[in-house]
Amino acid sequence: MSAYPEAPAADAMLAASQPDAHVLAFLNTRRSFPAAALKEPGPSREEISQIVRLAMRVPDHRRLSPWRIMVFDGPARARAGEVFAARYRELNPQASTQELDRERRRFCCAPLVIAVISSPDCDHKTPVWEQELSVGALCFNLLLVANAAGWAGSWLTGWMAFDRQIAREFGLQDHERFAGFFHLGTAKDTVKERSRPAVEALLSYWQG
Ligand SMILES: Cc1cc2nc3c(=O)[nH]c(=O)nc-3n(C[C@H](O)[C@H](O)[C@H](O)COP(=O)(O)O)c2cc1C
Repeated sequence: MSAYPEAPAADAMLAASQPDAHVLAFLNTRRSFPAAALKEPGPSREEISQIVRLAMRVPDHRRLSPWRIMVFDGPARARAGEVFAARYRELNPQASTQELDRERRRFCCAPLVIAVISSPDCDHKTPVWEQELSVGALCFNLLLVANAAGWAGSWLTGWMAFDRQIAREFGLQDHERFAGFFHLGTAKDTVKERSRPAVEALLSYWQG
């Protein structure tokens, strides 16, 4: 647990920049890891609280915290799989046994899955788009924090992230949706670099 720093005091004076070659090297080589290849152990509940606390340190216009976090660990993962399989069968009456098994196992490969739920205040003067961007920032931060703490993982969605009936079954309200499922655990192997976008093709300077 010593890997997780204590939260700064509410009135602490913080450095506006912190040059750190290790952080740059970490960002240079970070990679997602396939959920199906994740192994035990995963972070404990105490660690999850720390990971979520650090992940929530993101820009958030007017401090709305427009998100909720839902963790699936232990037997909750298989129970979630039953919900997925039942809904999958409803949507695909001809579904094969293998397909239903795949749905049942969706959350069972990784030691745990953290769902980030976008929960915007739709009547607030901060546009919902900005609130959603903040949720996206939290999402990636969650993965970075987990990686920096020694855990491997992937940000996945899948059909169940977009199905309103599934959302209701997991207690989401009409204005809420899943931003991602973070499958976290231990990587027993390295992972190959993937192709990256060319900066020149995507970076421009406005000429006026
Ligand atoms: C919002 C979002 C949803 C994603 N959903 C999936 C998914 O359902 N299945 C999948 O194989 N990859 C999905 N991905 C991509 C994985 O996260 C992928 O492993 C990752 O982009 C690999 O790149 P990285 O190593 O740079 O993180 C998703 C990515 C994002 C941002």
